[in-house]
Amino acid sequence: MKKFKVGVIGTGYIGMVHLEILRRIVGAEVVAIAEPNAALARSAAGKLEIPKIYAAADELLADPAVEVVHNCAPNNVHFDINKKAIAAGKQVLSEKPLSLDARESAELVRLADQHETLTAINFCYRYYPVVQEAAARVRRGDLGDVRAFVGHFLQDWLFYDTDYSWRLDPAAAGRANVIADLGSHWCDLVQFITGQKIVEVMADLHTCIPRRKKPKAGPLSFSSRRDFEYDEVEIKLDDYAALFLKLENGAHGNFTTCQVCAGKKVDLELQIFGSKESYAWSHVHPNALWVGHRERGNETFYESSQLQAEETGKYATLPTGHPMGYHDAVYNLFRDYYAAMEARRDGRPYEVTFPNFHTGHEEMCVIDAAVASSQAGHWVKVQA
Ligand SMILES: NC(=O)c1ccc[n+]([C@@H]2O[C@H](COP(=O)([O-])OP(=O)(O)OC[C@H]3O[C@@H](n4cnc5c(N)ncnc54)[C@H](O)[C@@H]3O)[C@@H](O)[C@H]2O)c1
Repeated sequence: MKKFKVGVIGTGYIGMVHLEILRRIVGAEVVAIAEPNAALARSAAGKLEIPKIYAAADELLADPAVEVVHNCAPNNVHFDINKKAIAAGKQVLSEKPLSLDARESAELVRLADQHETLTAINFCYRYYPVVQEAAARVRRGDLGDVRAFVGHFLQDWLFYDTDYSWRLDPAAAGRANVIADLGSHWCDLVQFITGQKIVEVMADLHTCIPRRKKPKAGPLSFSSRRDFEYDEVEIKLDDYAALFLKLENGAHGNFTTCQVCAGKKVDLELQIFGSKESYAWSHVHPNALWVGHRERGNETFYESSQLQAEETGKYATLPTGHPMGYHDAVYNLFRDYYAAMEARRDGRPYEVTFPNFHTGHEEMCVIDAAVASSQAGHWVKVQA
C-alpha cells in the first residue's frame, strides 16, 4: 500500500504523541519533522528514525515529498502554518485551538474548503470508546431531549508561581489560556455528544496567580523544574474560567476549568441530563459511562467492542476488559482521518466523522464569545 508521507511540526509534548501514534497508522510514514529546538529535534528523529530534520516550519512546508502536515507547534503559529500548508497543497491535521481567534479560524475554513483540503483537529477526548458510545446513544434517542449539562476540566500543573508556559503569554497563546486550552476540549465534547451547538455564553475568566517566575531559558510545557533563573512577570491570561452556556435547543449548562487545583491532573468530567436518562463521563475513569435512571437502578457501561453500538464498537480495539487510554483515543482519531484520506485517494466514498477545521472554528467562536462576555459582564451570543 502506498503510504502517506507525513511531516510533524513541533516535537514538544504533543508532537511526540503524534509521532508515536503515527507509527501505529499503517498507511502513514513520517518523513520529516520541523523543530527549532535542535536538541529536541535530534532526540525525536533519533528515537523514531525520522530521516529529515528541519529547523523551521517553512522548510518542511516547502518539501514536496510531504503530503500531510501535523501541526503541533504553539497556538500563535497555528494559523500561519495551517494556512501555508493548505496553500502548498498539503492535507492538515492541526492541534487545538485552531488559531488565536475566530477571524483566523474562519479564514482557515475558507481556505481549506477552497483547496479541498482534508483537515482534522485533535479533539482527542471524544475518541474514548464510551464517549463515542454516549454520542451514538444520544443520536439513537436513548437520552431523549438534552435538558441540562454540567462539568469541569481541572489540572494542577500551574499550581506554583514557578510554573510557567508559553500558554500564559498572550503573544503565544492569544487572548485566552485555560478557556482555550482546556475549554476548547470540553466544549467540543458537549457539542459532539449532544449534537447541539453552543449558542450563548456568560463567562468569568480570572487569573488566580497574577505574578509568576518566568524562566530566562524557555521551558517546555508541563516542566516541574524549580531551580532556574527567572524574570518575575505579570500574568494577564486566565488560569480559571467559569462559564454558563446555552445550547441551540435551549438547554442550559455550566462548566469550570482551572489549572491551579492541587491534586487534579486531568480531571475532565461531563454530565448530561436528558428527558429519558442521564450520562456522566469522567476522564479519571475513562473506560466507563455512567447511565442514570429515575425509575430503576443506575448502570455503569464499560467500553466493549462487542457491546457498544455498531458504529462505535470499532473504537474499543482491545478485547473487552482491557482498558483503552489517551494514546488510543488519539489513535482512533488519526485512524479515522487516514481512512478518509485513503478512501479519497482511491476514489472510494468516505465520511468526515472526525473533528475538522469547521469544528475547530466552532470552538474558536465559543472562546471569543467567552472572552467578550467576561470583559462585558453579560451573556454574549456565539457568532458562528
Ligand atoms: N490535543 C491535546 O490533547 C493537546 C495536548 C497538549 C497540547 N496540545 C496543543 O498542542 C500544541 C503544542 O503544545 P505542547 O504542549 O506540545 O507544547 P510544547 O511547548 O511542549 O511544544 C511545542 C513545540 O513546538 C516548538 N515550536 C515553537 N515554535 C515553533 C515553530 N514556529 N515551528 C515549529 N515548532 C515550533 C517548540 O520548540 C516546542 O518543541 C498547543 O497548541 C496545544 O494547545 C493539544
